[in-house]
Amino acid sequence: MQHAIRAEGLVKRYGETRALDGVDLVVPQGRLLGVLGPNGAGKTTAVRILATLLRPDEGRATVGGFDVVRQAHQVRSLIGLTGQYAAVDEMLTGVENLVMIGRLLGMSRSDSRRRAAELLERFALSDAGGRATKTYSGGMRRRLDLAASLVGRPQVLFLDEPTTGLDPRSRTELWSVVRGLMADGVSVLLTTQYLEEADQLADDIVVFDHGRVIASGTSDELKATTGAQVLEVRPLRPTDLDLVSQVVADVIGEAPDLTGGRATASVHDPAVVPAIVRRLDDLGVVATELALRKSSLDEVFLALTGHRAEDEPVTEKAATAKEEVPA
Ligand SMILES: Nc1ncnc2c1ncn2[C@@H]1O[C@H](COP(=O)(O)OP(=O)(O)OP(=O)(O)O)[C@@H](O)[C@H]1O
Ligand SMILES: [Mg+2]
Repeated sequence: MQHAIRAEGLVKRYGETRALDGVDLVVPQGRLLGVLGPNGAGKTTAVRILATLLRPDEGRATVGGFDVVRQAHQVRSLIGLTGQYAAVDEMLTGVENLVMIGRLLGMSRSDSRRRAAELLERFALSDAGGRATKTYSGGMRRRLDLAASLVGRPQVLFLDEPTTGLDPRSRTELWSVVRGLMADGVSVLLTTQYLEEADQLADDIVVFDHGRVIASGTSDELKATTGAQVLEVRPLRPTDLDLVSQVVADVIGEAPDLTGGRATASVHDPAVVPAIVRRLDDLGVVATELALRKSSLDEVFLALTGHRAEDEPVTEKAATAKEEVPA
């Protein structure tokens, strides 16, 4: 079977930092792969290599069957890229930005204008199309950015953290645009720091940490490593925390985490919640907080690596100083 994207053993070093440390991944034709990982995990580095903007030190990769180093030109004709930071020209209007890209891609003036109008319509930017993009909101810029990467009708699309910094509504809108692209048969590699986003969009997910793939599978498979959901119970009287801990441990068969004055535990079966509520009630324990929520990336991380995503070095300096000592 032909893969839209295939990478084998990708390595990229920056001095002592291994931004990528032997990454393998595949995106089957017409599917969306979610690359999930915290700051500095190597997501952007992988995207830049696959989009021919950066050469790997080791390993190889193909996009649409073409080698990203030796056949970069062919690869570029197939792909679209929406980078992590907005790439539109602030002084130009939405229409001008898109027409310029069409012209750069060798389209005629009228074809470029037609394509621009079509994309602005699709991204609900028709009304704003005549305004300089510096007057756009963050969400509008992200949408225009995505539109810009689609001018050339790419078969393979790279989206690097497309919704970071967007409000929930803009995020949901962008998700539906991405779903529309998938319905058109476009293959997508999307990076994100949000488990929920990967959950919403991705057929398959790979989790990056320190430049390595530390887990891969469907969203359900990944969550099965942590428990699909997280239960949190905070007693009104802090002294009841031990009782809460016992009840939760009894019902789910595992001792909860007790940091922050509340009991937190992964839950595979939501039916345990009423049982816990009844037991607490019998014991006269009042909870001020009782919630069942989806696992966060952080919890998936903790389960996979034994450390929290926040422990990662964020600055370049810290990353370099830390070297490659496995956690
Ligand atoms: N040009 C560069 N020079 C030196 N170090 C770099 C460079 N680009 C990336 N790095 C380092 O490589 C590692 C991976 O960076 P990368 O940008 O790929 O991470 P990321 O997963 O995209 O993170 P974020 O979620 O913050 O965008 C980091 O430790 C980063 O500091
Ligand atoms: Mg990045």
